[in-house]
Amino acid sequence: MLGCKMRLILLLICSSTFLISVAEASVFTDNFQIYFGDWNVKYPGRVKGNTVILGLTNSSGSGFRSKIPFLFGRLTMKIKLPANDSAGTVTSYYMASTFKKWCELDFEFLGNRSGQPYILQTNVFVEGKGEREQRIFLWFDPTTRYHEYGIVWNQNLVIFIVDNIPIRVFHNQKNTTGQLYLDYQPMYIWSSLFDGDSWATRGGLEKINWSKQPFQAYYTSFNIANSCQVTNCTGVNNCYKQLYQSSYGNKSLQLTSTQITQLRWVRRRWIIYDYCTDLQRWSGVVPVECVKNRP
Ligand SMILES: *[C@@H]1O[C@H](CO)[C@@H](O)[C@H](O)[C@H]1NC(C)=O
Ligand SMILES: *[C@@H]1O[C@H](CO)[C@@H](O)[C@H](O)[C@H]1NC(C)=O
Ligand SMILES: *[C@@H]1O[C@H](CO)[C@@H](O)[C@H](O)[C@H]1NC(C)=O
Ligand SMILES: *[C@@H]1O[C@H](CO)[C@@H](O)[C@H](O)[C@H]1NC(C)=O
Ligand SMILES: *[C@@H]1O[C@H](CO)[C@@H](O)[C@H](O)[C@H]1NC(C)=O
Ligand SMILES: *[C@@H]1O[C@H](CO)[C@@H](O)[C@H](O)[C@H]1NC(C)=O
Ligand SMILES: *[C@@H]1O[C@H](CO)[C@@H](O)[C@H](O)[C@H]1NC(C)=O
Repeated sequence: MLGCKMRLILLLICSSTFLISVAEASVFTDNFQIYFGDWNVKYPGRVKGNTVILGLTNSSGSGFRSKIPFLFGRLTMKIKLPANDSAGTVTSYYMASTFKKWCELDFEFLGNRSGQPYILQTNVFVEGKGEREQRIFLWFDPTTRYHEYGIVWNQNLVIFIVDNIPIRVFHNQKNTTGQLYLDYQPMYIWSSLFDGDSWATRGGLEKINWSKQPFQAYYTSFNIANSCQVTNCTGVNNCYKQLYQSSYGNKSLQLTSTQITQLRWVRRRWIIYDYCTDLQRWSGVVPVECVKNRP
């Protein structure tokens, strides 16, 4: 009998060891490094965990970046934003390349006074050119629970997703309008929490209340598994080779009809600003890429 129990205990030990090693495959510090304000960064629970807290005080914000860049994929992160009086704070989560004419896909969360809504601003940079701001309110309070934010990126399109609902799409239109696209520059994942009170909340009217410091943004469950990791020059070619076999790089991937319905809902209910409808800004002629990017 005792022998049986011993075997059972051993079995339990073995399976829990197995679980730990699986968890360690997604250890935060294996995949990301702090690039500023490391004294404001916290790792709750296990040191080798997959959760990190960025902090902002009157002396510094903080930020992390991925150790390696990615080309195409589905890259997501669960984030819980600074709670209560967060006016003037900005939490950014973005992907960017390091080329001179860089590419960038941005999420910027603009804080607000207690009880007032955050704004989520997104932007797309292709070869150094941005000016593609879109702003929405969220359909939930992003400070009470974790929500998933991410990018689906392939040769056809980029989809910005929030809890798997598309909030924005940017199509590859090289073949039609000649518009440049993000299809050869690998991008790193970056995130930071910083003082943006000169512009972020009600256009800079609302300042940070430093008596509420430290402001904290929580990150967990990052998922980079469905992406092509580029470790060296030949990595990019390898990513292209894998495009045809993998779901992440799937060339034929387009918005599904459900996603189109969801995207229309976001645009009808939650959009505050869209560069594509700002006629004044473009002297009456909106950028040619806008037609295709409207669902
Ligand atoms: C920053 O906050 C600390 C703690 O509230 C305070 O002692 C310090 O004077 C502040 N520093 C500045 C530059 O405002
Ligand atoms: C926000 O306010 C609530 C209610 O007063 C409080 O329970 C919570 O701890 C506050 N959160 C932070 C991050 O300060
Ligand atoms: C653009 O055209 C090229 C050449 O015909 C084709 O291989 C490629 O798949 C097209 N790209 C898109 C996004 O349609
Ligand atoms: C903050 O709340 C005010 C008042 O409700 C609103 O006008 C503004 O859009 C909100 N968000 C930001 C980031 O300013
Ligand atoms: C800043 O927070 C303190 C403490 O809650 C509060 O007394 C003060 O009125 C706040 N200041 C502003 C400008 O909201
Ligand atoms: C470059 O990366 C690829 C795929 O990640 C790998 O197979 C190859 O060995 C690497 N080459 C060098 C020189 O490190
Ligand atoms: C690529 O997407 C198409 C259309 O959604 C689907 O039929 C196909 O199975 C996908 N291929 C892979 C390798 O996931």
